Amino acid sequence: MVILGLVRPELTRRLVCPSCTTPLDLRAFDEEGGRVREGVLLCDGCSTWYPIVSAVPVLLDFRTAAHDRFVSDHGGELAGYTLPRGRPRPGEESVQQTFGEEWAAVVDSELSFTYSEEDLESLNRRVWLAFLGERPEVSRLLDIGCGLGAETLALRKVTGADEVVGIDLNLSLLAGGAPREAPEGTHFAVASIFALPFERASFDLVYSQGVLHHTYSTEAAFSSVSAFVAERGYLFVWVYGQEDRLGLDGRRAVVTRTLYVAEQGLRPALARAPEAVREAFFKVASRAAHPLLRPRVQHPERWGRENTEHYLRDMLSPRFAWRHRWNEVLEWFERDDYEIVGVQSPNAYRELFGDRLWGVGVAGRRRG
Ligand SMILES: C[S@@+](CC[C@H](N)C(=O)[O-])C[C@H]1O[C@@H](n2cnc3c(N)ncnc32)[C@H](O)[C@@H]1O
Repeated sequence: MVILGLVRPELTRRLVCPSCTTPLDLRAFDEEGGRVREGVLLCDGCSTWYPIVSAVPVLLDFRTAAHDRFVSDHGGELAGYTLPRGRPRPGEESVQQTFGEEWAAVVDSELSFTYSEEDLESLNRRVWLAFLGERPEVSRLLDIGCGLGAETLALRKVTGADEVVGIDLNLSLLAGGAPREAPEGTHFAVASIFALPFERASFDLVYSQGVLHHTYSTEAAFSSVSAFVAERGYLFVWVYGQEDRLGLDGRRAVVTRTLYVAEQGLRPALARAPEAVREAFFKVASRAAHPLLRPRVQHPERWGRENTEHYLRDMLSPRFAWRHRWNEVLEWFERDDYEIVGVQSPNAYRELFGDRLWGVGVAGRRRG
């Protein structure tokens, strides 16, 4: 293990401008032991600069508060280049806000959602990426919507990929979220699904779990990430399932349907509410829900009130949370010329976690 140099030269060589796809040049302001802590990535194609903050490149095609802070520190050193001039897509600022708040609640937690590090590995090895087999031929992997990065680290272990890149739209990777320790070849960046800073068709596995349905269009997000899968490479996606809230019987059906109705009413209102209102709501709601939820999770001994808060925020604060049918997702794969090579395993999930598996998890291999 080495201290993670989040911008290492090998990654910067492969990055392209999210606005015009020209390869980027690195200018370092503050380096330590081969890693760049502060600096910029410069595009000579459209004369745009992209900041590197806390060793994480911010490769967005639109301006954020992080850019403004950077300008006030380094403005003089950026002559000849401008800030990104694009506009966020619908809902992107909301994702940055609500998911930023959501991840801030669990920056120091040992759990990612309900999973420990080991859980994430077995979940991917046995339930979602089982189709890869014992010796996966995955050299470059892109994890889309990596949150704070625990998932990216698990994927590296599961696939043994030489290079793994985790990207996420919200800025919590900058706020000390990106793992400080990771094997060489693991990188993180702030970027959007809709303007990815990589060469097209350059990853052996593109993976996106629980992310695409939080954009303005899951289908458009699917097409966007699919373009980065190499010939004969793999695409895995997991999205919310249409049947998740409706296909249960008995007492559990009553609970899930009630939660679903509550979610449908509360989520749009909470997503648009001022931050202080959300803050107050989730503090109160998480205190009330914590004693009920804690006994039901995998690791109650490690599950704190902040985990309950994260869980509730994830369910109730994203602006978009579309639900999809299996046939709809399979059709997207077929349309983009993938052969279906894997579907998630509910049995393996039950063996691992003793519970029902939700959502639609499918893997395809791009035809050559
Ligand atoms: C529910 S979390 C899932 C995180 C991670 N995949 C996991 O399962 O631990 C969804 C993540 O998608 C990210 N996201 C939403 N829209 C995005 C976009 N347009 N581009 C990149 N990331 C996005 C959010 O910021 C958030 O961190």
